[in-house]
Amino acid sequence: MTGNLADALATVVGSAHVLEDPELRAPYERDWSGRFGAESRLVVRAADASEVAAVLRMCRDSGVAVVPQGGNTGLVGGSVPRGGEVVLSLTRLTSLGEVDMTTAQVEAGAGVTLAVLQKHAGAAGLDAGMDFAARDSATLGGIASTDAGGLVAFRHGTARARIAGLDAVLGDGSVVRRMSGLLKDNAGYALPALLVGSEGTLGVITRVRWKLVVPNPERVAALVPLDSIEAAAELLGILRTRVPSLEAVEFFLPEGLELVSSYLGVDPPVDGAAVYLIVEAAAPFDPTEELAEVLPEDALVADDTASRRRMWRLRESHTEAIAAAGVAHKMDVGVPLTALGEFLAHVPDVVAALAPEARTILFGHLADGNVHVNVLGLDDDGDAVDEAVLRLVAELGGTISAEHGIGIAKAPYLGLVRAADEIEAMRAIKRALDPSGLLNPGVVV
Ligand code: FAD
Ligand code: MLT
Ligand code: ZN
Repeated sequence: MTGNLADALATVVGSAHVLEDPELRAPYERDWSGRFGAESRLVVRAADASEVAAVLRMCRDSGVAVVPQGGNTGLVGGSVPRGGEVVLSLTRLTSLGEVDMTTAQVEAGAGVTLAVLQKHAGAAGLDAGMDFAARDSATLGGIASTDAGGLVAFRHGTARARIAGLDAVLGDGSVVRRMSGLLKDNAGYALPALLVGSEGTLGVITRVRWKLVVPNPERVAALVPLDSIEAAAELLGILRTRVPSLEAVEFFLPEGLELVSSYLGVDPPVDGAAVYLIVEAAAPFDPTEELAEVLPEDALVADDTASRRRMWRLRESHTEAIAAAGVAHKMDVGVPLTALGEFLAHVPDVVAALAPEARTILFGHLADGNVHVNVLGLDDDGDAVDEAVLRLVAELGGTISAEHGIGIAKAPYLGLVRAADEIEAMRAIKRALDPSGLLNPGVVV
């Protein structure tokens, strides 16, 4: 393309939506954790699918790579530039259709936040079937692209299970349109399924068709202190089989409880345990009795909204409390439940062997075998710690990414859990859909 790229983009999105001033670009150039980011060439904020297509075409013709960005709450460095790319912000794609009550589905622009979707679904008597602490900023495009999980994935699945269809512009400029919302449609390759979890490397998602769920009006949560992770795994088995209304089983450890309590300025409601679970059950009937039958006597039960929220804050505030303590290396991993005890017991030693001064905080989604390993106080030793922790995960038959994605953070370690042939197949897909390497270079493969 001849001429100035910024001027050309301004003809598509309007000059107010092409940001060149370093101060205006800055919030788009650093990730939520503060660990990743670099200067972009410029930031462009498209308003709809046709603008997205035009922006991609112009960038491709100019030979300038593009980093798609939603709410920029991703935690693996995939949403921010590595240096000199155009950041394509999708937060203006906020169209939101009426809830289709026949299918319990709704069409939403990629920039609609999870909180807006939750409210919209709630007004129709339904629920998004997904929740996590970044709900006010995380967008449906980002959620689809990372295949996000969250607090109720045990009950409702990850984003993949909630997405009935999507529209996207691929790296080569072709357009995928699959918004019919058909439950059964196996005509050819499932391109939407390929785009879910592709972290902005194959195409830019512009719209999704989201499957809503029927909310359960009666809810009860419990904070359960336990004396070992083995006891937690045993209780999980009992909950899974004897509490059909089970919605979430999350865990944190004493170090996390202490950090969060001091961050929130509250007294911990329990202490002295080795592991803490937050268990939530939800049903059309009151699930208190069903839950109480299997919980230990010292479990604290919360059956009204205010006390449930207070309980959940102890779990949900881990991310913020850790960020307030410093820039952490965050490793979101999945471990087979049979190996969870061994993993949690070994991780602090693995970290301490390489970085004796570092602080390791472990918490996560117990029912999904999804552990968030957060290491504070790392310096030059950070990469070695990442590798050692991820190697341990791989040795135990786990995955180096459960819900946050590979991004930049874990791209060097993909070979720990995917065979060379599989990685080559991924590269072949990338070359086919994004032949010029326009989208999110360095992410995933
Ligand atoms: P971004 O951060 O903007 O982007 C994430 C990735 O998707 C990037 O690779 C980007 O290039 C790509 N992308 C974004 N939009 C598009 C698009 N329209 N088309 C193509 N590619 C796109 N995650 C969980 O899974 N579970 C949790 O429980 C959870 N809790 C969190 C709590 C906090 C406090 C924070 C800060 C984060 C949490 N996250 C969690 C991580 C994060 O919120 C999710 O990964 C979320 O899906 C990112 O959405 P986003 O709109 O912010 O995407
Ligand atoms: C969570 O479950 O709270 C998140 O995935 C965020 C994090 O890992 O910090
Ligand atoms: Zn999580």
